[in-house]
Amino acid sequence: MKNLIRLASILLLMSFILSGCYYDKENELYKSTAVCDTAVVTYAHSIAPIMVANCNVCHNTTLASGGIITDTYPDLSSMAAPGGMLWNAVNGFNGLELMPKNQPKLSNCDLVKINKWILAGALNN
Ligand code: HEC
Repeated sequence: MKNLIRLASILLLMSFILSGCYYDKENELYKSTAVCDTAVVTYAHSIAPIMVANCNVCHNTTLASGGIITDTYPDLSSMAAPGGMLWNAVNGFNGLELMPKNQPKLSNCDLVKINKWILAGALNN
């Protein structure tokens, strides 16, 4: 009987230890949740990387799906007026197909950055 109690308490202790490990991992997950930093938005550091990650595979100077190019500043900025084609495409507004095509909508963080860049005049900064 004593051995049984000892075994039970060891098992109980182990389950605490294991669940401790589980929560450690969860903490890591929380930590890795990307912080959305929109304090300073520039073309080079904020917008171009979003295009690289989500758009340029189809809209580069050689492929230019739908006649659209997103991998150069002149082409991208030419459709970056407020309420223009870039904003409408990433939101699916105004009857435009939601971009990136056949993929989930961009994150809110990316959309905030794009909006901020557009409203600041879509500068080449
Ligand atoms: C998988 C390929 C693909 C990706 C990725 C993609 N697009 Fe497109 N995009 C297309 C195609 C193809 C068209 C032409 C219209 C159509 O067939 O839907 C298009 C059309 C557009 C248009 C013109 C809209 C219209 O209705 O004429 C804009 C603006 C645009 N894309 C912007 C973007 C932006 C910005 C991204 C990234 C956030 C992006 N696209 C990602 C394939 C893509």
